[in-house]
Amino acid sequence: MSARGNFSSKMGFILAAAGSAVGLGNIWGFPYEVGQGGGAAFVVVYLIFCFILCYPVMVTEIAIGRKTQKNAVGAFNDLGLKKWNFIGKLGIFSGVLILSFYNVIAGWAFGYIFEMVAGNFAIADQFGTYIKDVVKVGSYGLVFMGVTAYVVSKGVSGGIEKAARILMPTLIIMMLIVAGYAMTLPNAMDGLKFYLIPDFSKLTASVVYNAMGQAFFSLSLGMGALITYGSYVNKSDNIVASAALITLTDVGIALLAGLMIFPLIGFMSGGTMEGAARGPGLIFVTLPQIFGTIGGGLGIMTGTLFFVLLCFAALTSTVSLLEVPIAYVVDEWKIKRTRAAWMVALTIFIIGIPSLIGNGYSEFFSTAFTTYKDGGKDTDFLSFVAALANDTILPLGGFLISFFAAHIWKKHNLDEELAQGAPNYKGSFVQKYLNFAIGYFAPIVLAIVFILTVLFKFFGIQIL
Ligand code: PHE
Repeated sequence: MSARGNFSSKMGFILAAAGSAVGLGNIWGFPYEVGQGGGAAFVVVYLIFCFILCYPVMVTEIAIGRKTQKNAVGAFNDLGLKKWNFIGKLGIFSGVLILSFYNVIAGWAFGYIFEMVAGNFAIADQFGTYIKDVVKVGSYGLVFMGVTAYVVSKGVSGGIEKAARILMPTLIIMMLIVAGYAMTLPNAMDGLKFYLIPDFSKLTASVVYNAMGQAFFSLSLGMGALITYGSYVNKSDNIVASAALITLTDVGIALLAGLMIFPLIGFMSGGTMEGAARGPGLIFVTLPQIFGTIGGGLGIMTGTLFFVLLCFAALTSTVSLLEVPIAYVVDEWKIKRTRAAWMVALTIFIIGIPSLIGNGYSEFFSTAFTTYKDGGKDTDFLSFVAALANDTILPLGGFLISFFAAHIWKKHNLDEELAQGAPNYKGSFVQKYLNFAIGYFAPIVLAIVFILTVLFKFFGIQIL
């Protein structure tokens, strides 16, 4: 046990890290990206990225955290490589950006609990009006940020572990039931086909870039969240195995979210799949429809429970996002945790205001703000920040972290750390693969994707 506190058990870390990974990214982000990315082709690329590229980055982040027992910036100082701590600073910057828009979506989801309690399934058709009511959704967001700050002020290895132990399995069961029900609806098969049978003619360069961003975002990678959580992991835990379990859980829940949403879109569209590419509003429009078709008291109950669980999943993610800057200011600036948590949370809420009002309320932030064209489309502020953080800075962070670990900190040091708690690691296939992936594969692919994404998204230049 270090003085900073550790997760109370091996399961505690896995739950907290899985809690960070599983969130709106899986249930809100993944289906909408699949819908816009043309369906199953996106899914295939996404899965490849998750397992062969992101998993090694996850292992590396956790190892750096555990080795140093420090925050995302302090970790680099501690390894004696202070020059490289800009990687951690970049991570804190992207964490702040992500939380600023993530909290807006979490606020929408939080408000949906009350809509479901009231049996207002028709909210599906009024979603555009709902998100324009910035005082209402802004207040929900403020409450959500407040709860996040409260949890972080108490320290992450406390209650959140215990709550996740019960609520995560409940969420999975609930999603299985809803997916099962969705599949019984007429035209559900058309949805499943769209989701599961790849049409590779839909595979454009931007589908690949977005799949990469989505994989990083969903797995909480590239910004030091897992360096920070790794710093609370016991030396006797097996990082390689834990990371595998976290990756599988996260990917599994994203896939499950698709199994809920796409059959339903098949049903609602009469098989044409129209509306699948709706974008960030996708689940907020489709989910109330399914609870509406269940109808009555049962519809209200399932709808309410679903959004409660979704909010909890979002909370374990916002907590990990806020923990990154907090661990930094607590360790390095010696500010008290409680004070830091409330001050930083409030600042991030304010940074999120353009994302909040850029959904119809403020003309400027909804459309006119855009100075770049993403494949020719005007983009609202929230989508812009999401593209900047998820698709651009996170892969850059992943590149820097893997390059750093393999070539600056050195692979044998990484291996030493990974071997602790994993007696069979040395000489295994996993070790050989991780060495290759972290040393060459990940940095090269991530550098290329980063450059191509920046050129394409922000300058409209398409090379591939
Ligand atoms: N992985 C989280 C989700 O899918 C979001 C997140 C990103 C959390 C980066 C922490 C760090 O909802």
